[in-house]
Amino acid sequence: MTIAHPHATLTTTPVHDGPAGPQWWRSAVIYQVYPRSFADASGDGIGDLPGITSRLGHLAALGVDAIWLSPFYRSPQADAGYDVADYRDVDPIFGSLADVDRLLDRAHALDLRVIVDLVPNHTSDDHAWFQEALVAGPGSLARARYHFRDGRGAHGELPPNDWESIFGGPAWTRVDARPGAEASDHQWYLHMFDTRQPDLNWDLPEVRAEFEEILRFWLDRGVDGFRIDVAHGMVKAPGLPDWGGTVAMIDGAAANHGPMFDQDGVHDIYRSWHRVLAEYDGDRALVAEAWVEPLARLARYVRPDEMHQAFNFAFLTSRWQTSTLRTVITASLAASDEVGAPTTWVLSNHDVVRHTSRLGLSSPGARPNGIGHGDEQPDEALGLRRARAATLLMLALPGSAYLYQGEELGLPEHTALDDDLRQDPAWWRSGHTERGRDGCRVPLPWSRDAPSFGFSSGGRTWLPQPSSWSAYAADAQVGVPGSTLEMYRTALALRREHVLGAGSLAWVDDLAETSDAIVLVNGDVLVVTNLGTTPVPLPVGAHVLVSSGDLADGDARSLSVPTDTTVWVTLI
Ligand code: NOJ
Repeated sequence: MTIAHPHATLTTTPVHDGPAGPQWWRSAVIYQVYPRSFADASGDGIGDLPGITSRLGHLAALGVDAIWLSPFYRSPQADAGYDVADYRDVDPIFGSLADVDRLLDRAHALDLRVIVDLVPNHTSDDHAWFQEALVAGPGSLARARYHFRDGRGAHGELPPNDWESIFGGPAWTRVDARPGAEASDHQWYLHMFDTRQPDLNWDLPEVRAEFEEILRFWLDRGVDGFRIDVAHGMVKAPGLPDWGGTVAMIDGAAANHGPMFDQDGVHDIYRSWHRVLAEYDGDRALVAEAWVEPLARLARYVRPDEMHQAFNFAFLTSRWQTSTLRTVITASLAASDEVGAPTTWVLSNHDVVRHTSRLGLSSPGARPNGIGHGDEQPDEALGLRRARAATLLMLALPGSAYLYQGEELGLPEHTALDDDLRQDPAWWRSGHTERGRDGCRVPLPWSRDAPSFGFSSGGRTWLPQPSSWSAYAADAQVGVPGSTLEMYRTALALRREHVLGAGSLAWVDDLAETSDAIVLVNGDVLVVTNLGTTPVPLPVGAHVLVSSGDLADGDARSLSVPTDTTVWVTLI
């Protein structure tokens, strides 16, 4: 295919046509709010729902379509709320159900949709079901809701199988090892994450029925969808067989082929949930957090009668390399096109080192589980430059894009957090070999000159903010040309105006052939991301819409795109 341009004819290879339907989630930009670190109205140093509501104007002005809230349910916070004790209530540190209603009202008034997190793979050990199971003892119906087993070995002293927890250590805890437990209770229970997060038994119809009711509870309250935690993990292979492998959340999906993940039976659950959501108006949506590969396996979660979106972690975990990124983008679109679903794009979330810092490492694209004192420290300026380029590339792609709070400010990871302040269970359970995820969860800086940079009305923060973050504060960037915040706002407005999320994609071959650049066209927008060391000249007369960095002057008639820079230009 060739594209006529006033001053050039571009040869292209089509990859993807426009969207398969009009639903909002096919092209939406969705902003992840991590409640404990977004904004704190109560003054206790932990973010809360009223804090979020008070800052929704920032998100509307940013230009996103929806927000996804990480869990705010009643929880002992053993895994920052991914350990839910009551799925129908709000933890007092975050507020109340009335605060959820107010948040939903305000968001909807601002034309922002709201997705909430659902954690169905495991409950908290404080959940009434688990407490009941502990008391009821072996063989009880209450224990059947979880995976309780007798141990192996002459005295049941060995775990029932060889599975490991994703946070490190065995995936089993013996009941009598729990504080206050019956000393004669030698059964073990399964927890793919922390010992305080027992896995539910999804073979039990009662468990399935309960979660359908939980979906309805929140749908009735007006949420627009759910992000499904560990969506690939609920169904385990019959008999919980030994495996001999290791599991990982952040190290990519390669490891996750064991009998605890991506079992065919899990899809029945999503078919039934699809039917529940279809009873409601407004195109409510389910998004899968499923660390599954290859992409064809991931696509099975978004078949027409299952979920609507799945996080595309292949893009997040891609190296900063032209050929890899091109391959991942092509393969992602092909896999989701196959089932008529949109692709999603994501670079950062609350489980990974922020992309500003990942891309500032000597091996850009490396994925350490946290960075701390004594580890290689990222090059902050280089990381930010590449992150801005990566973001502009992402926002030009057709499909839905996810942003993680603070990335619009260019926030780096906190890479020098004192180890004794760490709260991620992965830090302890890995025997201090993994720093964990606290560094990407530090409270946001809103105001350059205020205590806690305006995060908390009480001037406190549950994790310390680096003093260098004053330069990243939102109020230091608003209205400042070239700031990261203004780049995001401009890009999001242009993405909407040029309908890029619902657009098409074709690789532009002739510009890319002569350079180490990703060059694509989506509708009337030409996008160049230069990862090489030689500047890439833009077609003569190109009109620059937005750029992640300064453009070098080319010859007398054209501009060129320098290293680690993305630019969007119009073709006509
Ligand atoms: C994935 C979540 O994103 C992560 O934060 C959590 O620790 C695990 N699932 C367990 O729920």
